[in-house]
Amino acid sequence: MQIFVTEDYQAMSRKAANILSAQVILKPDTVLGLATGSTPQGMYKQLADWCDKGDLDFSQVKTVNLDEYVGLDPTHDQSYRYFMQKNLFDHINIVQSNTNVPNGLAKDTAAECQRYDQIIRDMGGIDLQVLGMGHNGHIGFNEPGDTFELDTHVVDLTERTIEANARFFASRDDVPRQAMTMGVRPIMQAKLILLVVSGEDKADIVKAALTGPVTPKVPASILQLHTNVVLVGDKAALSKL
Ligand code: F6R
Repeated sequence: MQIFVTEDYQAMSRKAANILSAQVILKPDTVLGLATGSTPQGMYKQLADWCDKGDLDFSQVKTVNLDEYVGLDPTHDQSYRYFMQKNLFDHINIVQSNTNVPNGLAKDTAAECQRYDQIIRDMGGIDLQVLGMGHNGHIGFNEPGDTFELDTHVVDLTERTIEANARFFASRDDVPRQAMTMGVRPIMQAKLILLVVSGEDKADIVKAALTGPVTPKVPASILQLHTNVVLVGDKAALSKL
């Protein structure tokens, strides 16, 4: 694992954007696995700036996002599709039909999960997967459990995750209780994983995930088995490593 420690969130965002843009420059038709959440927002802003200046070209890039809430319309301001449009896709020259997020409104969620895995297979897998890390060690919405789930699946969100995400909704009751998430197979098959972490509140889980036992009780711990992980974190998040 290659580790970059940065002074603060802004420097972390810039470093992560540098790494992602190197991938896009070297392989213009790259397949990116993307995450939502607070951590990659600064990175996306930086990428949009560079694209705007003509330094980056996303015209051949394809993307697959990790997850989506079950029951949220893509235009709902807390859906992950909406997040991606507002934070990245609306600001870069990507072909919109090359962007993929699970359909939160799918009536048959099992069929939607299968469709999503097929999309990833048809793309030939993921070249670079961006990951954040939840306070409970989740990656995507792969929550702590007894086994690692391999394929895209529906998850019941844990109380901790509902609590953490409540800040984005009008009330805690409005937070969806389920999500669809990519499983660990396509994540672990990604050629490169770009893991971004920020803030003191992530320090304990970063330590547990990256230096503790590999266990589905800390889903991010499986990244210890990946041979090509780049961790970019600010010094607060990496303070206990
Ligand atoms: C979002 C996702 C989640 C987040 C994680 C950290 O698509 O996959 O696993 O990466 O919850 O979220 P933040 O960055 O908000 O701390």
